[in-house]
Amino acid sequence: MSIDNQKDYWDSVAQKKIFTHPINTNLLLQYIDKGAVIVDYGCGYGRIVQELLETGFANTTGYDTSLELINRGRNNDLPLHHIGDPSALLLDDNSVDCFILFAVLTCIPSNAGQLGLIDLLQSKLKPGGYIYISDYYLQDNEISKNRYAYLNNDPDNFGVFSLPEGVTFRHHTKEWISTLVKNFSIQNEDMIEVKTMNGNSAEAFQVLVQKQLR
Ligand SMILES: C[S@@+](CC[C@H](N)C(=O)[O-])C[C@H]1O[C@@H](n2cnc3c(N)ncnc32)[C@H](O)[C@@H]1O
Repeated sequence: MSIDNQKDYWDSVAQKKIFTHPINTNLLLQYIDKGAVIVDYGCGYGRIVQELLETGFANTTGYDTSLELINRGRNNDLPLHHIGDPSALLLDDNSVDCFILFAVLTCIPSNAGQLGLIDLLQSKLKPGGYIYISDYYLQDNEISKNRYAYLNNDPDNFGVFSLPEGVTFRHHTKEWISTLVKNFSIQNEDMIEVKTMNGNSAEAFQVLVQKQLR
């Protein structure tokens, strides 16, 4: 499995970036209880792990491929784990109640990488488990529209753009996100205003999807 990763970039900005997508813990409480096994995949410095623990979700941990981001969170005594390879997620199959996947798809430009990641998370989820995704559809403003491109000229892999600071991101067509989660059932969907980690206003989608019960 090949999941794209830009960990040198994330290590280089680990001390200065602030991540902001808000998590709706009241929504989560409608679907899982406080003893649920929650894994924040691509947890960064662990701000969501911290919030979930403070809310009472006692069985929450985080995994990320950036050692520098993980170390930043570990300074706050958070249960965060570094994984050298994105797919080296040492969790048993069918063992997780809910994955948090906040602003991580946007860091994985390729269709193949995103499909590989969702397959991986699906295999680790218990039947009936959830993935709570927060990410970006294509943004409706001129700056964004002018920079969106196809990855490797693939007509199915649209919305990719590179920033001068040395990272490639992706925003998504609604059709692509539907394809990505086609094996799951959508339980809840919201659109919210967020600030990107570079301080720009953007609209994010948040979707809670459920793995089939059997
Ligand atoms: C924009 S940050 C969001 C961090 C966190 N989810 C939050 O919202 O606070 C993206 C994170 O995804 C991680 N990441 C990017 N690609 C990854 C991959 N293939 N596997 C695991 N983590 C990845 C980065 O290291 C970074 O911590």
